[in-house]
Amino acid sequence: MPNILCIGAGYVGGSTMPIIASHCPEHRFVVVDINEARIAAWQSDQLPIYEPGLDEIVRQTRGKNLFFSTEINRHIAEADIIFVSVNTPTKTFGQGAGRAADLQYWEKTARQILENSTSSKIVVEKSTLPVRTAEAMERILNSNNKGLHFEVLSNPEFLAEGTAVRDMQKPDRVLIGGRETESGQKAVERLVEMYAQWIPRDRILTTNLWSSELSKLVANAFLAQRISSINSISALCEKTEANINEVSAAIAHDERIGRYFLRASVGFGGSCFKKDIMNLVYLCEHYGLPEVAKYWEQVVAMNEYQEARFAANMVTSMFNTVAGKRIALFGAAFKANTNDTRESPALEVCRALLEEQADIVMTDPHAMENACSDLGELAERVTFEIDPYAASRNAHAIAILTEWPQYVELDYERIYHSMVKPAFLFDGRNLLNHKKLYETGFNVYPIGKPPLTRLLHMS
Ligand code: UDX
Ligand code: UDX
Repeated sequence: MPNILCIGAGYVGGSTMPIIASHCPEHRFVVVDINEARIAAWQSDQLPIYEPGLDEIVRQTRGKNLFFSTEINRHIAEADIIFVSVNTPTKTFGQGAGRAADLQYWEKTARQILENSTSSKIVVEKSTLPVRTAEAMERILNSNNKGLHFEVLSNPEFLAEGTAVRDMQKPDRVLIGGRETESGQKAVERLVEMYAQWIPRDRILTTNLWSSELSKLVANAFLAQRISSINSISALCEKTEANINEVSAAIAHDERIGRYFLRASVGFGGSCFKKDIMNLVYLCEHYGLPEVAKYWEQVVAMNEYQEARFAANMVTSMFNTVAGKRIALFGAAFKANTNDTRESPALEVCRALLEEQADIVMTDPHAMENACSDLGELAERVTFEIDPYAASRNAHAIAILTEWPQYVELDYERIYHSMVKPAFLFDGRNLLNHKKLYETGFNVYPIGKPPLTRLLHMS
């Protein structure tokens, strides 16, 4: 029974390994992490991440061919294949601060693998890493005098949070990069065999190491670029009475453009898009390509503009002041169906409104704990309220910041009657029926559409 180890039990390691384990019953999977509380949660009924459908898969595999542990060293020694999915945040210090990836956890992990290995192994990069990281890893791992050989592969994860189970069960593609040597290709083939247990072979792409590493950054940059593009047009729509949903649908009908990732919003969030683009920008600068760097940097700048524009529009529309006004923020997660708040636009809007001295009430079905911790000291100035009806009571405004389907089902007539008048609703996800809300009495401010308001437009 091949032993497979995953180092890092976060959103990536914790959601991919149970699904792979469920398809490969003849392999034994262990997921380890330095964080004891996280491992304890993976061993309990209350998993540390909210991901629809994952509980069931963990329940089916845990204790059979899937195990969670903090005994990293022992499991390194026993493993044949090691996936590494430790975090690679953006550097906050020194050279490349704010752009480059902080690879200290990765390097530390590589050294730990080397120290505890008594047999040759395949080491798989699952975390997103800058191009040519594998080269550094190979150097560290193969600089041993134990006679061991480590083959480094790149196998980036393309799943999106909230749909991780579906994305892993039926991926558009699996990408595996390896060295173009005999041992490199043998290692690639071992991983291909594993995925081929449930994924058609023509969806398993193999490339050289550098193409694989780069493709992950480029995929995220392209997806984010589409959102920034449509969001830039949403600003123009608001000036011209064009409707962003209509524009989006019209261009999506062109098969060359396609329909995905064209939903205008308050902005994109999540642990990947900004981080990976800044990483790409840093790489381009490093390799002497400032024009290319600037081009991609603009995708992030446009996203920051969209978040700031949304918050500024709230203030302007509410008679140029929100100081002391109760504002209910619906949603804290960076998207629906996750408890993840990393880089969430909801938190950016929250910070901007706190700066304006608004009285913020935040509600979210799953992400309030993370929101509270991400906001740090600012959390003391925010009221967290799980019930959206209670959150909006006596509020001047509601802002929809995460597209949770349960927000569509709420009784907005009831909410309207409990609010201070004039009642404002800012829909940062174009989630609700704006005409109906207007008829109920709300002054409605969608993204990329003319506002529906009885008030004289303020500017
Ligand atoms: C994220 C991104 O999604 C991914 O693309 C990026 O490359 C890494 O960060 P994610 O799984 O979401 O991956 O990160 P996170 O939830 O922070 O999980 C990382 C885990 O690694 C944490 O549980 C952390 O405790 C663990 N870790 C970190 C180790 O076990 N050892 C270390 O040395 C460092
Ligand atoms: C992304 C990639 O989709 C995935 O392939 C990669 O592995 C990790 O990064 P994730 O960040 O989990 O996944 O979610 P995604 O669905 O891509 O959404 C990212 C952000 O963009 C969210 O804040 C979402 O609300 C926003 N978004 C998405 C829009 O604003 N409009 C859209 O049309 C689509």
